[in-house]
Amino acid sequence: HPPSLQMEENSGLRRSMCRAKGAAPGFKVAILGAAGGIGQPLSLLMKMNPLVSVLHLYDVVNTPGVTADVSHMDTGAVVRGFLGQAQLDDALTGMDLVIIPAGVPRKPGMTRDDLFNINAGIVRTLCEGVSRCCPKALVNLISNPVNSTVPIAAEVFKKAGTYDPKRLLGVTMLDVVRANTFVAEVLGLDPREVDVPVVGGHAGVTILPLLSQVKPPCSFSPEEITYLTNRIQNGGTEVVEAKAGSGSATLSMAYAAVKFADVCLRGLRGDAGIIECSFVASQVTELPFFATKVRLGRNGAEEVLPLGPLNEFERAGLVKAKKELAESIQKGVSFIKK
Ligand code: NAI
Repeated sequence: HPPSLQMEENSGLRRSMCRAKGAAPGFKVAILGAAGGIGQPLSLLMKMNPLVSVLHLYDVVNTPGVTADVSHMDTGAVVRGFLGQAQLDDALTGMDLVIIPAGVPRKPGMTRDDLFNINAGIVRTLCEGVSRCCPKALVNLISNPVNSTVPIAAEVFKKAGTYDPKRLLGVTMLDVVRANTFVAEVLGLDPREVDVPVVGGHAGVTILPLLSQVKPPCSFSPEEITYLTNRIQNGGTEVVEAKAGSGSATLSMAYAAVKFADVCLRGLRGDAGIIECSFVASQVTELPFFATKVRLGRNGAEEVLPLGPLNEFERAGLVKAKKELAESIQKGVSFIKK
């Protein structure tokens, strides 16, 4: 062994001896696309998560630098870097959770669907790796268009015979995070006290905030409903335009990704009553995938919760959302099937 590996082995041995004294074991997490705009702050924040014992950072560029940098943080997780496709399998072997923010982001004037041609292939390659090396891992898929990349991932896993719908989760947490923030602003509340369910998918009209189900219970004027729905649906575009060509949401997305990964890990640990919105295989509507609240447990999304009562405005929004979602899902499925 080179000296650095030998030292890592020794420190691993010392750590497991410490753990035997009663410390929690922790989970192994890989981030694919770790050197990107989302990947870097996500790596930083996951290194701070006490539920993580091993953190694998994979990208096709720049992982040595990001890994060296993040590894100097004096938190518990052991950090290892992996560069290029030849190292994908090593990055994935033994992982409990794989977070995927790999792929190109939007520029002004682009829809998430415009990213399909590049990101579909990236997601396929990475999910083939998951099937080979950690078929039981939970997958948190961030790469856009989520409405199509989740169906792509499902088809890849089906082909490989490793598909478990409970373990594939499209990350729509940023829509919830934005909704909580914007609603709290209107209500004059602390955003941490607000819970807005956001259902449907993760693009434009498929992002459907259920303002009639906001907690704490409250009511909005018709003007407030229009303003909030538009702002939540176009929150991503607000950031893309403000960044003026240099990318899309990365910092708030990293925050949202970590918030979602943390609930997934707490579910894996066996904590009870963990409910969060996610885009998953679903029977809530006639579509094969849909975002609603799900209950997270040791096996991932163990229960997909129903929509709950919708008002007329939300029912009309649901019709629009489903129409666009059906097309995006089909596009993802045919990408693999053709
Ligand atoms: P970025 O371009 O800054 O970073 C992407 C990273 O992926 C780069 O480091 C790149 O080298 C890497 N990458 C490219 N091909 C790869 C491959 N085959 N394997 C591994 N890594 C690869 O983009 P950013 O801003 O980090 O966004 C990443 C994705 O996340 C985009 O598709 C974006 O649309 C999406 N996104 C999703 C959100 C959501 O709510 N689900 C919110 C914001 C962005």
